[in-house]
Amino acid sequence: MEKTKILIAYGTRYGATTSTAEEISKVLQGEGFEVRVVNLKEEKVKDISKFELVIIGSGMKMEMWTSKAKAFLNKFSGELKKKKVAIFVSSGARALMEYKGEHDEIIRITKKYLEDKASKYDLNPISMTMFGGIWDYNQIGKIYRKFLNAERENFIPAGIKETEPGVYDSRNWDEIRKWAKELAQMI
Ligand SMILES: Cc1cc2nc3c(=O)[nH]c(=O)nc-3n(C[C@H](O)[C@H](O)[C@H](O)COP(=O)(O)O)c2cc1C
Repeated sequence: MEKTKILIAYGTRYGATTSTAEEISKVLQGEGFEVRVVNLKEEKVKDISKFELVIIGSGMKMEMWTSKAKAFLNKFSGELKKKKVAIFVSSGARALMEYKGEHDEIIRITKKYLEDKASKYDLNPISMTMFGGIWDYNQIGKIYRKFLNAERENFIPAGIKETEPGVYDSRNWDEIRKWAKELAQMI
């Protein structure tokens, strides 16, 4: 019997969304699905008709999705309305907000990054979520560095691990795997 097909199409700037998408794919393949993972910067998606579920992922920067993930939503918005869709974003801000107890801010960004985006494209996703991300001080340009240096001292107290020199990763891999398993049960 043919396996049910899932597409994970994502946009990334600093690379976190790539490894998050790959982990989601690994779990879904383990659950018996055929998964195609597409980095939208490297590959164009021409046709989504054969996919039972389309998962769209984007990294966040200055509260904005990547242009490639937005372009994907624009291109396929008509078809996506009729499909099972799930959305995730990679957010470096969430863990810092949790650490600082900024609960209203978390509610605000959840609405802005996820709910407003789904509404804009008239989508009714089966699930939407916000994962952590990476802060890579080796990749951060001069303009942002000054501002982000002020945050750097908060990472370790916030429980964000330095996974390589200058790279702080706020992702919770169990949370990512759990979400993927839940999606598998919804289709
Ligand atoms: C200049 C800059 C701006 C950022 N702005 C935001 C933001 O507005 N909200 C947020 O949640 N994370 C923000 N982040 C953290 C990113 O979400 C994090 O780096 C994440 O890994 C991005 O996904 P990507 O690695 O797939 O590009 C920012 C990071 C940088 C370097």
